[in-house]
Amino acid sequence: MKQWIDRLRQERTLRPEELRQLLTGCDAETLRYINKQAQEVALRHFGNKIYIRGLIEVSNCCRNNCYYCGIRKGNPNIERYRLNLESILDCCRQGYKLGFRTFVLQGGEDPALTDDRIEMTVARIRQNYPDCAITLSLGEKSRDAYERFFRAGANRYLLRHETYNESHYRQLHPAEMFWKHRMDCLWDLKEIGYQVGCGFMVGSPEQTVDTLYEDLQFIRKLQPHMVGIGPFIPQKDTPFGEKKAGTMEDTLRLLSIIRLLQPHVLLPSTTALGTIHPLGREKGIQAGANVVMPNLSPVAVREKYKLYDNKICTGDEAAECRHCMARRMESVGYKVVVNRGDYH
Ligand code: 5AD
Ligand code: FES
Repeated sequence: MKQWIDRLRQERTLRPEELRQLLTGCDAETLRYINKQAQEVALRHFGNKIYIRGLIEVSNCCRNNCYYCGIRKGNPNIERYRLNLESILDCCRQGYKLGFRTFVLQGGEDPALTDDRIEMTVARIRQNYPDCAITLSLGEKSRDAYERFFRAGANRYLLRHETYNESHYRQLHPAEMFWKHRMDCLWDLKEIGYQVGCGFMVGSPEQTVDTLYEDLQFIRKLQPHMVGIGPFIPQKDTPFGEKKAGTMEDTLRLLSIIRLLQPHVLLPSTTALGTIHPLGREKGIQAGANVVMPNLSPVAVREKYKLYDNKICTGDEAAECRHCMARRMESVGYKVVVNRGDYH
């Protein structure tokens, strides 16, 4: 298997059968090998620097009913909230002081967060923080809305494609959600000029080696600036509450494969990875990831933004998470840096 990994690193290609072997027949030693190759590639491009993004969870209200997601409309067991402009700006103020130069506004598809309101929020943050990147992660919007947010000063947009296989997409989402619309959004975002992030959950129900292969093909086609992947983790109040979680090993393998396929891509070591293993985020970095996204949301709402069960950091202040993250990265030889961390 090592010769395929070497070839993957050199030629950045992977045949379906090789992916199958890597994902199903890979022992601990091979995993260590691929992680090391990917870590070397990341070190070559980024040094031992880790980019940080301050995550602000602006609303847990959502009009959608994704089967996997804890903030789905059909979950009656969560208390809904929405941050107002002042509290979002407060988060940014705190975040800036802590050294964040990217703010990520993430939330459900909340009908009350109108295009006007989002546009105005972006404009205010842009005005206050001309030196910061603004990332949006607010789901599917019209092309016109994406253009307005961009003109108001947003630079990046995260919209996981979830799966490139259309029938798999239908197994993860109800009939009123469309794979094609998700794809159109991603291509629109790219055309408008955003730095775009796609991604998927590792080990989502009905995911197979073949659907994963399609995901990797899609990544090669879209050429996103960022790729967000983390393990699927069941949330008990969702239709997938009893499904199996994705594993850390599979996530680390895929992080490494993505790093080897796309050496320059921005690749977060996600909170979900930190949730299924206490050292998950550190291991993600050692498998080729180069970004972490500590939480900047007010502690009062943290507990309510639970896409999955047992999410970490829900009780910690922004400053605690920031410093905890710096220590964690130092423990594996890396340094968190104060800059926007743009794609080059
Ligand atoms: N487990 C892991 N990740 C999840 N997401 C949503 N629900 C879950 C879950 N149960 C991911 C989705 C979404 C992103 C914001 O969080 O991929 O795009
Ligand atoms: Fe949040 Fe460690 S990163 S407490």
